[in-house]
Formats: sequence, C-alpha cells, structure tokens
Amino acid sequence: MTALLELDSVQAGYGPTSVLHGVSLSVPAGGVVALLGANGAGKTTTLRAITGGVRWNGDIRFEGRSLRRMSTEEIVRRGIAHVPEGRGICTELTVDENLKLGSHLRRDGAEVRKDYDRVFEYFPVLKERRRLSASTLSGGEQQMLALARALLMKPRLMLLDEPSLGLAPIVVRSIFQIIRSINEASGVAVLLVEQNARIALDLSSTAYVLEVGRVAVHGDSAELQGNESVRRSYLGY
Ligand SMILES: Nc1ncnc2c1ncn2[C@@H]1O[C@H](COP(=O)(O)OP(=O)(O)O)[C@@H](O)[C@H]1O
Ligand SMILES: [Mg+2]
Repeated sequence: MTALLELDSVQAGYGPTSVLHGVSLSVPAGGVVALLGANGAGKTTTLRAITGGVRWNGDIRFEGRSLRRMSTEEIVRRGIAHVPEGRGICTELTVDENLKLGSHLRRDGAEVRKDYDRVFEYFPVLKERRRLSASTLSGGEQQMLALARALLMKPRLMLLDEPSLGLAPIVVRSIFQIIRSINEASGVAVLLVEQNARIALDLSSTAYVLEVGRVAVHGDSAELQGNESVRRSYLGY
C-alpha cells in the first residue's frame, strides 16, 4: 500500500542554515504518526516543508504525487491542513469568521453545513461563542478553534504543531481525546508534532524522534514507550 504522505531524504533550512539533514518518514492513510524531539530539532521545519513554507530538497509525496512544485494553496486544496505552532487563528476576527477561513475554498455547500454541525458537536463551546471575537477565547478554546478550522477544510491529513503547548494538563487531555475521536470517526490522518512525548505516544501508532534534523529512532509507539533506554535517551521521561 502506498503511504498517504511520504518524506524521502528531505533536506531543508533557512537561507544558508541547513536544519533538516535527510528526513524520511511516512504517514499511512487514516493513521496517527507522532513526530517527537527536543526544542530546535526541526519538527516545525518538517511541517513547514510539507506545506511549502520552506525550501526543501529530496522528495515529499502526497497520495503518490510529488509536492515539489506546488503552491501552499494547491497543497491545502489536495487535502493537507496545517495547524501551525501558536495556532494561527486570527484574533481580530470572530469565531465564525475564523471557521469560514477553513471552509471558504470548498464548493460542496451541503457537505460544508454537515461539517459545521459535526465540528460544533466536537467543540460545543465554539458554537456558543460563534459571534464573539476569537481574542476572548482561552488558550484551550483557541486550540479548539484552530482544529475546527482545519477540519472544515475537509482534509485527508492534518499536521498539528504542538497542540498541547501552553495548556493545562486537563485541557490537553480533552483536546487529545477529541483528536482521537476525529481520527476514528472521519479517518483523517494526523501527523502530530509534540514535545510532550508521553501523550503523543499514547495517541499515535507510529513515532519518529528527530534529533538535530535527523530521525534518531522510529517505530511502533507502544514499543518506543516500553523501551526504557529509548525513553531515557530521547524522550526525557
Ligand atoms: N524562520 C527561521 N529562520 C532561521 N532559523 C530558523 C527559523 N525557524 C527555525 N529556525 C531554526 O531551525 C532549527 C529547527 O527549528 P524548528 O523546526 O522550529 O524546531 P522544533 O519545532 O523542533 O523546535 C532551530 O535551530 C531554529 O533556530
Ligand atoms: Mg516547533
């Protein structure tokens, strides 16, 4: 079976600075894959490469097709939704306006309305606050808004950059439960970047650990979790 997303020896960086030194990984259709690693390892850069936010070499394929010459808009249209570090919501806009930014490229009106209903089932708080400025939301609610907006793009793959960052543990647990339900109910695949290795390994089936721009270890998430030396050397717990 071809993977949904494949990175093949991807090198990337900023100007003369090289950050990724040949990263290979794959995400199966409907799968949840964790990308772990310390601060500065290159996790965010990996997601940026996938959506065309940074120049790269090697190859990145989505549904078997290279993303090499595609614009970010084209990549999004093909089914990759990126929830960036810091969530990327517009705090000058209302909750509703933010959600519309997710669905505005779609032409399937009836399906869009169903997806709004679904999203409000996952995140009832967003329905209550539809007309309020996104700036009035708590950190956890803003993360929910970012996820909801990504879902309204009807993606086949979501790239999530540290959804747990800055949130209280109880909020993190609830957001991760929702991510799990979304994955199970809709089959959208997830590439999850996290510094919180424990919670990411619980959610994912496969994990990769980046160390200074290289994949240091990868494998079955449960096995990595059970391997004490891997846990100590790379996961910090
Ligand atoms: N916009 C940028 N310009 C220059 N260097 C950057 C930029 N963004 C990240 N870097 C550098 O790239 C390396 C990897 O960063 P990043 O991909 O953000 O790591 P992570 O997400 O794993 O913390 C770091 O050394 C960081 O300083
Ligand atoms: Mg990062």
